Amino acid sequence: MTRGFLTFVFALFLGLNVLIAQHTIIPHPVNVETVEGSVTVESEIGLVLDQENELISTMLDNFSSELKPLGIEMSSGGGAESTAATLLRITLKEEDSVKLGKEGYELHLAKGVINLEAIEPAGVFNGLQTFRQLLPQTRVADEEGNKEPIVLEGMRIVDYPRFGWRGLMLDVSRHFFTVEEVKDYIDQMSKYKFNVFHWHLTDDEGWRVEIKAFPRLTEVGAWRVERHGRFGSQRPYPKKNEKATYGGFYTQEEVKDVIAYAAERNVTIIPEIDVPGHSMALLAAYPELSTRKELKFVNPGSKFANWFDDGTFEMTIENTLDPSNPAVYAFLDMIFGEIAGLFPSDYIHMGGDECYHGYWERDEKVQAFMKENGIKDSHELQSYFVKRVEKIISDKGKKMIGWDEILEGGLADGAAVMSWRGMQGGIEAARSQHEVVMTPKEFVYLDYTQGDYSVENKIYDDLSLEKAYSFDPMPNPNLFVDIDPELILGGQGNLWTEVIPSLQYAYYMTYPRAFAISESLWSPLAAKDFKNFLSRTEVHFDRFDQSGRSIAKTIYEPEVIIKMEGKKMMCTIKTSFEDIEVKYTIDNTYPVGTGKKYTETFEVPPGDLKLRAQSYRDGEPIGRMLIIDRKDLEARVK
Ligand code: ACM
Repeated sequence: MTRGFLTFVFALFLGLNVLIAQHTIIPHPVNVETVEGSVTVESEIGLVLDQENELISTMLDNFSSELKPLGIEMSSGGGAESTAATLLRITLKEEDSVKLGKEGYELHLAKGVINLEAIEPAGVFNGLQTFRQLLPQTRVADEEGNKEPIVLEGMRIVDYPRFGWRGLMLDVSRHFFTVEEVKDYIDQMSKYKFNVFHWHLTDDEGWRVEIKAFPRLTEVGAWRVERHGRFGSQRPYPKKNEKATYGGFYTQEEVKDVIAYAAERNVTIIPEIDVPGHSMALLAAYPELSTRKELKFVNPGSKFANWFDDGTFEMTIENTLDPSNPAVYAFLDMIFGEIAGLFPSDYIHMGGDECYHGYWERDEKVQAFMKENGIKDSHELQSYFVKRVEKIISDKGKKMIGWDEILEGGLADGAAVMSWRGMQGGIEAARSQHEVVMTPKEFVYLDYTQGDYSVENKIYDDLSLEKAYSFDPMPNPNLFVDIDPELILGGQGNLWTEVIPSLQYAYYMTYPRAFAISESLWSPLAAKDFKNFLSRTEVHFDRFDQSGRSIAKTIYEPEVIIKMEGKKMMCTIKTSFEDIEVKYTIDNTYPVGTGKKYTETFEVPPGDLKLRAQSYRDGEPIGRMLIIDRKDLEARVK
């Protein structure tokens, strides 16, 4: 289906007599205007570069491989003029008259020439991604093998990001993703102008990066016994002498390869070594670094904590490092030394989240250490630990970043905060002059359920596409006048993988919500419009499908809202698209195209029945049918 693709509808821009193209680009560019002339792409694009640049040449080689399946060859003339009918002319400019910055670009399509101008290679890369989105994902040849020419309307795009940190985090501990899978994930995100890949490399369920000084981290810490099904209480612990065969890790050579791959795609990798909590895999290899020094196992997803209604928890297995043990800091110094040597990023993430203090509070040696050092409680002790780690990391020429718990008890100057429990931690951090990356769970947690529970995995919270689209990392400047906006570096979507065992499902959970996040991080606030975004998103569903990566289309499915009116159970059904209608039944039959159409709130009568609801567009079913039994309907009463 090529719905909406390349159908440029023109509207008169208020008063200005400039034509605005209705495009399908995600994230929405700063400015798109239609101009006279067009560009026809047949089977060759001649490259004209104004200067030699190694990184740009690599980016163009990659781009050229992407165009091959479309039957388009890029012929390189180096500095010389090309004779091809269609030209891609790339210019690195010195003068930045329209605030392009490091990552912005101008793309001008007219009269057979695609002119791409930028200040730096990163801008060229982003411009190429936009150009790629103007081309179809696939191009079918006729019986003689000829492909229809692609005609692109003349247009001028001026584009640059709103925020410098536009990230996605992938948790490779809860499930291991191979080098090829990680590269593919990075490749896809770079097409949507994400520029930070936060690699969550360590956690209770696996240590994933080779550390040469401590081989047991990967010999032991990277492997766990194989278990299936949901994480949590149903998963049995390892049996005595059971072999740990599930997992994997990245050698340092592989890490370098991934870093180089990402750099060619304007993506910086931020490694995370999560301490002092979330360290069960580390402690399985080196139990002497905990307070009890008991032999641990790499958690196969079995229960490790009791959770309480107020959100607090008690760890039933120790997964914290002992902050009173000097060997812990010597150990971390070596680890962060290798990590700093490996990753060129300015920042190293040290985790710091969800650190349970119970084992510290119950340990005499830790208590004596606190007394000796005038540390009054476990929050201050965590702060002591974080400050020492900050010193280790900054001594290696890197900046430390950690989850917002690192604010507790005071934070070292120069450390940056990743705010996940909401925006508040980030606001507090910015108020005390720390840099902030906003990743508030209610807007950007990509493991949260994204559709109806009858067809989606239910986990502990929900995140709809519309909510993700409403994410704005910048605290409202009218309410938070004391915050320096420069300290808000940007934001990030986070994919925790307890319920995500494959790359296919990682895509399903990441997109389309990552489209929404990319637009929240790149596009001007004024350009954001959810309806318009939805229509562009549909074109990108096709792009992902055609590339063999299916993503979630829950947005087509009905939203069912149940309320009680006295004793009557009332059902309201909503859809995200005006041209979608819903057919439903409440009599244990199945809705069909000619069946009952939803028009208004109705009563679900008493009885042993199921609500079945199916979206239709143009008379055809779209999305999955929801089948919700009475008990589930009752559970949804708001
Ligand atoms: C987190 O979600 N524990 C950072």
